[in-house]
Amino acid sequence: MKDFEQDYPDFRAAPHYEHGDEAPSNRSANPTMYDVIAARASRRGFLVGGLAAIATGVFGAGLTPRGALASTTGLLGFAPVPLSKEDTVVVPAGYKVQILAPWGAPLTGDMPAFVPGGNTGAEQGMQVGMHHDGMHFYGIDGSSTDGLLVFNHEYIEPRFLHAAAWKGQALDGDMVVFAADGSRDADEVLKEMNAHGVSVARIRRGADGQWAIVADPMNRRITALTDMAFSGPVAGSAHLITRFSPDGTRSRGTLNNCAYGATPWNTYMTAEENWAGYFVNADAEMPRAHKRYGVSAEESRYGWEKAAGGADETMRFNAAATGNSAAADYRNEPNTFGYMVEIDPFDPASVPVKRTHLGRFAHEGVVFAPAVAGKPVVCYSGDDSRFEYIYKFVSAAPYDPATADGTLLDTGTLYVARFNEDGSGDWLALAPGENGLTPENGFADLADILVNTRAAADQAGATKMDRPEWGTVDPNTGEVYFTLTNNNRRDMTQVDAVNPRAENNFGQIVRWKYDAADHTRTAFRWELFVIAGTARTSLTFKDEVLNDDNIFACPDGIWCDPNSRLWIQTDMGDIGPDQSGPLEPFGMNQMLAADPATGEIRRFLTGPWGQEITGVIATPDGTTMFVNVQHPGAHGSPEDFAAGKFGSGFPDYNGTVPRSATLVISREDGGVIGA
Ligand code: FEO
Ligand code: CA
Ligand code: CA
Ligand code: CA
Repeated sequence: MKDFEQDYPDFRAAPHYEHGDEAPSNRSANPTMYDVIAARASRRGFLVGGLAAIATGVFGAGLTPRGALASTTGLLGFAPVPLSKEDTVVVPAGYKVQILAPWGAPLTGDMPAFVPGGNTGAEQGMQVGMHHDGMHFYGIDGSSTDGLLVFNHEYIEPRFLHAAAWKGQALDGDMVVFAADGSRDADEVLKEMNAHGVSVARIRRGADGQWAIVADPMNRRITALTDMAFSGPVAGSAHLITRFSPDGTRSRGTLNNCAYGATPWNTYMTAEENWAGYFVNADAEMPRAHKRYGVSAEESRYGWEKAAGGADETMRFNAAATGNSAAADYRNEPNTFGYMVEIDPFDPASVPVKRTHLGRFAHEGVVFAPAVAGKPVVCYSGDDSRFEYIYKFVSAAPYDPATADGTLLDTGTLYVARFNEDGSGDWLALAPGENGLTPENGFADLADILVNTRAAADQAGATKMDRPEWGTVDPNTGEVYFTLTNNNRRDMTQVDAVNPRAENNFGQIVRWKYDAADHTRTAFRWELFVIAGTARTSLTFKDEVLNDDNIFACPDGIWCDPNSRLWIQTDMGDIGPDQSGPLEPFGMNQMLAADPATGEIRRFLTGPWGQEITGVIATPDGTTMFVNVQHPGAHGSPEDFAAGKFGSGFPDYNGTVPRSATLVISREDGGVIGA
């Protein structure tokens, strides 16, 4: 077993490190349930009986692989595709793929054409951003051939963004280039800010069956510079006072937009995930609202605060207390990130709103339970970092389809999950006076609790998870699924029933349900849907092991479609064809489909070199599916970049820089995807 910090003094050297990951920052002394796990005879025998076996790598050795295709209800109608080490996209026989909306595609304003690695900062602000992630399709009047595709741009690969200017230099995917005086080129910083955020694109299927972006007044780029408003308990509080907004009600931009949520009232919510790394705070005493989220005392990820000229919108990434009050500097700027941000995609003039009652952490995304008229609105959100938590929000006011809007998310209760060893679970309220959240314990009021959501969850005694990523709710059963992508830092003393594997390289998927499918309840029942891995290290809830048709690792994106087909996407980090180590058996990142009732899983798609597969949604009729390919070529070495070799040819395959893009997947016979 590896001791994470001992073996990887630089966390960036750890397996499946992803560019843009934050350093682990949960130093709380919360119990890990190792004490109680021994007492758990078993709800399902494998959870306890398998602990030592999983940790020592022989899990499954005593089982007869029954094959995950043994039981079927016919929900999955395609032939599985094999593992791949090719620099291409592979889908099942009878399916076809089109590329749509790659990074740099013209979208708004002057519609500037893409110049590989050579556009200006202003031009990037009118083009599709970089590193596509979560997305949703809003059919116009329910259309399945005409709608708004809204998609996130999680982060950037600076060497590809500026490939023309940085040609010939030995750079990896994290590095930026500074001038001799230590400053950054101002237009390069502008381009980086404009490559972040969200794209809203009107897309339409032509008579030839091909989809295209069409020029439209609703097309929009939201970036790291877009004006935003706050709502909910933190809005207007002292935590948000900055030189830009002395009354703490406004801010600029959204960052590291990972997964998303579609609200019951048809707006889009974008998640702010690994935002802490964009800041630096060298003050002797870093506040917990920075430290507990991993803000660096040494350097910011891209050095935006060093942009030449010292413009206000760039220097705000220095979060040190340099002025004589909060209204004179940007000591609170990190407090303005870490939220779920609501966007009305149909109103290009609307101001995005950061909904603070959903908590402040590394939000992967948000997923809503089916809204029921007369009942509160319920949504779930994971905090993707090692040993962080899963949260749920329950609105105070009931849902009324005629009047519902985002203000429902401003008043209610935020909870954090505790997964008990017997398969039960409890939602712990993060509210004043509840679960030890008192002034005596350092939580002054609700705004203080929400700005310091992680610290509040520590105090409440939540279960530390193996990096919660996406969630989804089965619309037909109400069961909630969350991916727990991996956690190679968990050791044998820290395993528990829901995170049962030490040095967890492969991840697992948990699901839970409520009595009467009532998502407002504080008690639930959970089980592990699948422990991912090879045939020797995997297990489904049916006590079956995975096989050549479905082995996978590091589940991340997940979406249950209207027919209850469960789509699972993987993010093993920057995986290339020469990958070695524990992730080598899994080929390139992939997407699979599962049957929630039988546990059957089939591999549907494999992607090109260096990328992850993330983001999945279909048209209302289910015949077109949109899937994103993010960070192709990211595994490429600095030496290769210097030599003009970019790690992957996707999607242009013409020797220019690789680009994130959306895959449009359809069937030759026009049928429903996956059926
Ligand atoms: Fe942005 Fe946790 O993936
Ligand atoms: Ca990733
Ligand atoms: Ca993700
Ligand atoms: Ca991930």
